[in-house]
Amino acid sequence: MSPFNYYDHIASIYDQTRWMTESIAEEVADYILEWVDANPYTSFLEPGVGTGLNVLPLVKRGYSVTGIDISREMLDQFSRKLEGIPRNLTLIQADASQLSFPDNSFDVVLTVHMVHTVSHWQKFLAEIERVLKPGGFYLNAQWITPPARMEFERHFKAILIQESSPQSPPAKHPRINVENYFRRQGYRPHYSIAKTWWVSNTVVELLSFLKARAYGLCWHTSDAAFQRALQAFEAFCLEHYGSLDAEIASAAQFEIWSYHLT
Ligand SMILES: C[S@@+](CC[C@H](N)C(=O)[O-])C[C@H]1O[C@@H](n2cnc3c(N)ncnc32)[C@H](O)[C@@H]1O
Repeated sequence: MSPFNYYDHIASIYDQTRWMTESIAEEVADYILEWVDANPYTSFLEPGVGTGLNVLPLVKRGYSVTGIDISREMLDQFSRKLEGIPRNLTLIQADASQLSFPDNSFDVVLTVHMVHTVSHWQKFLAEIERVLKPGGFYLNAQWITPPARMEFERHFKAILIQESSPQSPPAKHPRINVENYFRRQGYRPHYSIAKTWWVSNTVVELLSFLKARAYGLCWHTSDAAFQRALQAFEAFCLEHYGSLDAEIASAAQFEIWSYHLT
């Protein structure tokens, strides 16, 4: 199954298996609006918009938002949050590698956990540049995984590799350097943390997310190897964390690389 289609399968559990909440998204929206010096006519595009976690506050505040996603199910989850699609929101099901908009269409283009999913990242960035208005902002963001959760996933990944090798070596990703790309185009990069917040889950809860195969690291393994890895990992967790009810807590961050032509 293609990893892109996989989002159709996990759309209904996507939000609960992540660590971004509506109230955090509201605070991040405040930060973004101030950073880009928004006015009521500022327009936003989010390719790979998913369930709308990042831009929902902008839509609710009346900004013009366009979201593109290859997954119909992810987009449906987004529209369900709004009881119908308001006039200031356009949702398009399409491959975002080629943006079907005229040049200079948007004031702000936002991508979150997205650039690594397109097949030709340089072409994609060139498209972003093309549709940005002069003086517009490209914001390449991610919610950094809380370290305790990252450690949990690392342990699982090690067991998964043991259980699945040598049949399915881990997928290789191209080296993507968005900063270099935009620097070469003359953009001024700026890094900031828009928000830091505390995330806490029990081990059993995190295990349930893995069982639902909610993350990319769970997608490239046969069912049999995956089940073996889960069993071995549950035993590991009992020993490592002392109990499946143990809380794992650490800080998440919303980081933004902003690119702006000066
Ligand atoms: C990790 S999710 C991120 C969703 C959202 N940006 C967020 O931060 O919650 C990646 C999203 O990109 C979408 N996607 C992946 N490749 C795509 C492509 N080539 N064109 C459009 N959407 C794509 C997936 O369907 C998925 O909804």
